[in-house]
Amino acid sequence: MNNRDLRKVVLVGAGFVGMSYAFALLNQGVVDELTIINRSKDKALGEAMDLNHGLSYAPKDMKIKAGDYNDCKDADLVVITAGASQKTGETRLQLVNKNAKIIRQIVDQIMESGFNGILLVASNPVDIMSYVAWKQSGLESNKVIGSGTTLDTARLQYELSKYLDISSKSINAYIIGEHGDTEFPVWSNAYIGVKPLLDVIKEDEAYQYKDLEKIYTDVRDAAYQIIEKKKATYLGIGMALMRITKAIVDNENSILTVSVNPNGEFSMNNLYIGLPVIINRNGVRDVVSLNLTPRDKALLRKSEFVLKETIQSLED
Ligand code: LAC
Repeated sequence: MNNRDLRKVVLVGAGFVGMSYAFALLNQGVVDELTIINRSKDKALGEAMDLNHGLSYAPKDMKIKAGDYNDCKDADLVVITAGASQKTGETRLQLVNKNAKIIRQIVDQIMESGFNGILLVASNPVDIMSYVAWKQSGLESNKVIGSGTTLDTARLQYELSKYLDISSKSINAYIIGEHGDTEFPVWSNAYIGVKPLLDVIKEDEAYQYKDLEKIYTDVRDAAYQIIEKKKATYLGIGMALMRITKAIVDNENSILTVSVNPNGEFSMNNLYIGLPVIINRNGVRDVVSLNLTPRDKALLRKSEFVLKETIQSLED
């Protein structure tokens, strides 16, 4: 944390995702200072003004301003949301080379400030962009995190909450792998309160295993559905980024399925992928080990293959 022990965040990218995140931070009183950096400085100035005008009705005070990369120097966390977003029918992976160039330029400017905090990447394809940010920054991998499948996990908890008529707060179920078409739910490690989900499904004839498959595909394809209807997704990811930020600045040691370098966990290395991770003020504390079924292991390998193939295809 910076020497004043204030929770200071810099946001790079004042687009829909960035500003949904900023609005969530304001409404939840997560940080003390937010600096907004944007290619168009006027946009950053306008967004900062607009947010400041809501301060009187926010749960706590917050210093919000437009700034530049020098403001990263003593930031606890820099959140990167800049980059092109998916168009209707476009996959996240199709954004890879365009956004890799943008991420490299942004990370160079962040690191020139003397930044030594935590990088949180949301730009898609987020697993690849997190890998690019890690390589470009030279930071230890525990200090570079991607939003990963944190939003997908929230989508799964929402769908299960509807299906079971149980609060999503009592549902521990994770989506892991690529934040994309090869993501998958770890049903074998899902719990409703203290009861395994699969036991809940087995013991009550009101529930069918095939319904879980439908829930999974609805979660996996959610972004495509939303983009078809409203041209982009940004409110859900804004909340997911706020949740990750809270776990970091409040030193929570919470478990979230962010995108990380496994550093050998699950026999995976040299990529970024969504896994359940204990998060605190130092970034990644530990990757949580899971008892994966042969199905889960095969699906994780598939995600790993797609991500490593995409990393190989990155243009310099
Ligand atoms: C989505 C974007 C954040 O899944 O990839 O909504």
